Amino acid sequence: MSSLKEEISKRRTFAIISHPDAGKTTLTEKLLLYGGAINLAGSVKGKRTAKHAVSDWMEIEKQRGISVTSSVLQFKYNGYCINILDTPGHEDFSEDTYRTLMAADSAVMVIDASKGVEKQTVKLFKVCVMRNIPIITFINKMDRDAKNPFDLLENIEEVLGINTYPVNWPIGSGKEFKGVFDRKTQKLLCFTANNGQKEVEKTELALDDPAFNNFVNEYQKKDLFDEIELLDGAGDEFDIDAVRSGKLTPVFFGSALTNFGVEPFLEEFLQLTTPPLPRESVGEEVDPMSDYFSAFVFKIQANMNKAHRDRIAFMRICSGKFEKNMEVFHVQGNKKMRLSQPQQIMAQEREIVDEAYAGDIIGVFDPGIFSIGDTICSPGHKVKFKGIPTFAPEHFALVRQKDTMKRKQFIKGTSQIAQEGAIQIFHEPESGMEEVIVGVVGVLQFDVLKYRLENEYNVEIIMETLPYEFIRWIVNEDIDVKSLNLASDTKIIQDLKGNNLLLFTSYWSINWALDHNEGLELREFGTD
Ligand code: G4P
Repeated sequence: MSSLKEEISKRRTFAIISHPDAGKTTLTEKLLLYGGAINLAGSVKGKRTAKHAVSDWMEIEKQRGISVTSSVLQFKYNGYCINILDTPGHEDFSEDTYRTLMAADSAVMVIDASKGVEKQTVKLFKVCVMRNIPIITFINKMDRDAKNPFDLLENIEEVLGINTYPVNWPIGSGKEFKGVFDRKTQKLLCFTANNGQKEVEKTELALDDPAFNNFVNEYQKKDLFDEIELLDGAGDEFDIDAVRSGKLTPVFFGSALTNFGVEPFLEEFLQLTTPPLPRESVGEEVDPMSDYFSAFVFKIQANMNKAHRDRIAFMRICSGKFEKNMEVFHVQGNKKMRLSQPQQIMAQEREIVDEAYAGDIIGVFDPGIFSIGDTICSPGHKVKFKGIPTFAPEHFALVRQKDTMKRKQFIKGTSQIAQEGAIQIFHEPESGMEEVIVGVVGVLQFDVLKYRLENEYNVEIIMETLPYEFIRWIVNEDIDVKSLNLASDTKIIQDLKGNNLLLFTSYWSINWALDHNEGLELREFGTD
């Protein structure tokens, strides 16, 4: 039996962030391959159909062949226990994607070498920065024509405002791609394409190896030397503290599809990142190695099983050990309880867990008592983790029920779905709940709302898209919102807690509001 400390030290819990199509799925698949969780790449999350295997929970997912919600995959590698948190991209991008990052200890940022930093990556990156977690970059698709590596680094530094440290350096790209030169070992890892298998034929050449000169031509060799000299002279120095506080991102070049550079990346990643670190809670920091259990809910997933109308609350364990049937204390509910049907996802299998440790994610049956951000801990411990911020929705719609007799169901449905965190609801001050303004991070959530109101609450709705794109919470508490001087396209609204907010159609009107109202303070994230 390994000790609590040993178990927790083995844990690495991270999310992969990227813009759709940069190669997140492919990289995840290759990482799982090394963990032995699957035997052949392509069998786990090989796009549309196989994504079902991982989260075939909602009817809407089946119909559309997409994954609406993010999931967690656990696998073992070289004595480590690795949890990968999936952050969905495409149109299924939602607030859950952001919240998932609150449960991660580090992030892998995948960038398409032919494109550089793209929009969705910027959004996810901002959340990582807010938490100061390490961000490790994998520049993917080097087997295709890529941008100049210096330009890629500059692009990361400029757009994201983080320093870079290339751990390896590519020689060519596309048809000319020869491999990557490791700056630490001073060896060239020769490019050999390998699409599926785990065992990749690996050729490493030292600089003084005669084979080196056969593999790269004179010009490529000269360019490599010049570029490395430039990096050594003018580039950022490697600084592990800067990496761990998210100020410097180590950069790896590779190709997930051809399985090139993935295992060296994984090995180095495990060295660069730490096991779970102490987590802030109200009044104290919680040490993961503490002998008491503590966790917080970062995601609630509705209707895994339609027949039972159940929900699953996903929680990130922050300290100690979880054991099946143990008694816990739900802080916000002020109640002792037992967590039922605790489950974990090992590759594509859902399993009931007997025990889990700080760093792990478990999903538990939720009869409707948990909210996003809630703390659960061993009885007798007064832990309360800081809440998860409410992220700014980017799409808004006016929603009302078709049949006014269904008012009660409409309010219940929208409120419950909002409580799960799938949507945010607002209303105009002094208006009732007959008509609400729904805000979502990803447009797919509108369809989810419509579908669920019809299927679970038997309410048909009319939805009218609104032109707003930006929302800001008003920080000033004593302000008379009616007296604000605002552009004509700015709307004053309130959330369910009675906080005042403003809706804008452009950055221009945000600046207008700030310029014309002295002392007005606006915030992009909502807090408890
Ligand atoms: P995502 O999860 O970030 O959205 O990206 P995903 O892994 O699904 O990859 C997007 C596309 O890019 C896929 O092609 C995938 O095969 C390809 N790809 C990923 N990594 C590499 C790489 O290192 N080199 C090259 N050349 N291509 C790569 P697709 O045609 O859209 O999908 P599929 O039909 O191959 O599944």
